[in-house]
Amino acid sequence: MAKPKVLMTRKIPVEGFEIVRGCSDLEVWEGDGSVPRRIIIEKIPDKEGLFCLLTDEIDAELLDRAPRLRVISTMAVGCDHIDVQECTRRGIPVGHTPDVLTESTADFAFALLMTAARRVVEAVDYVKAGRWETWSPTLFLGRDIHRATIGIVGFGRIGRAMARRATGFGMRVLVFHHEPIKSDAEFGVRVQPGDLDFVLKDSDFLTLHVPLTPETYHLIGEKELQRMKKTAVLINTARGSVVDSKALYQALRDGGIAYAALDVMEPEPIHMDEPLLSLPNCLIAPHIASASVATRAQMAVMAAENLKAGLQGERLPHCANPEVYRTR
Ligand code: NAP
Ligand code: GLV
Repeated sequence: MAKPKVLMTRKIPVEGFEIVRGCSDLEVWEGDGSVPRRIIIEKIPDKEGLFCLLTDEIDAELLDRAPRLRVISTMAVGCDHIDVQECTRRGIPVGHTPDVLTESTADFAFALLMTAARRVVEAVDYVKAGRWETWSPTLFLGRDIHRATIGIVGFGRIGRAMARRATGFGMRVLVFHHEPIKSDAEFGVRVQPGDLDFVLKDSDFLTLHVPLTPETYHLIGEKELQRMKKTAVLINTARGSVVDSKALYQALRDGGIAYAALDVMEPEPIHMDEPLLSLPNCLIAPHIASASVATRAQMAVMAAENLKAGLQGERLPHCANPEVYRTR
């Protein structure tokens, strides 16, 4: 029997690739960088499965070109690049990769926090530039992490992993979540829930872990930045559009807050004339928070297993729209 046709929009780690190859008649975009949208549109009409990445926008227009599509699997936990509601309406399950990347992403968010607090990039650049002449009592003074207050916005899988790390550093942990948090004991760490205003005003470090939704778009803008301490550090590993980057630029330039460390930007990749790039107190990484060898392999396998289940007509093990099964 012929295997179902699948489009994969980029070569993925071999552990996942072999699973997809084994269960499908696979077509892979082999070009450099992201697949152009017109190529997906051109190749999707006869495909039953789509294996995509967070760089691919999957919207109603594209779905209109995919009459045979039975499953979409993305190698990411965040599904803001997919019109999930529209997929549900069309009966298409969407697979994603929760949990396997939680700890690696929190590791990197904490690494950004520490790098910003202790000005590591500035200091390394200073040495490389041949400017290190002597030990100085005031050279690159940063902020202490231990016993500082961290504000966590979005208390899901990664937010909680951040709380566990912060607790190890003796930090006071404030949390903003849109639903009431039942009890901190449930998470094994002591946290103090509060409204966003309280978390903004009291935090030395503010770290963002919400999904991108209409509600969280520019959640941190001019007004919120003005509420923060002038010494505060903002860490964003969620999605670029959760922060209003123009307002952030002004706050960093004018001393409204001290530092920002960002793994995600609006848009990605950023334009080289992005004003934030000109600031010494802003670190920007190229969306690599989950990028450890082991985690990317696990993400590839999980996404491949989701795709395989969908092609076989089974329930996806990690489905972003489980309601799709209720409408069938
Ligand atoms: P998660 O477990 O779903 O956590 C997100 C939490 O935010 C949930 O508890 C959610 O509550 C809450 N939330 C939703 N809207 C909110 C709002 N308006 N205000 C406050 N809290 C809100 O997801 P996760 O696995 O921790 O991942 C979080 C996000 O991180 C992903 O969506 C993705 O965008 C990003 N991410 C980035 C990287 C990277 O490489 N930089 C890697 C992994 C993830 P409900 O469950 O009640 O909706
Ligand atoms: C990465 O950003 C993800 O959502 O997995």
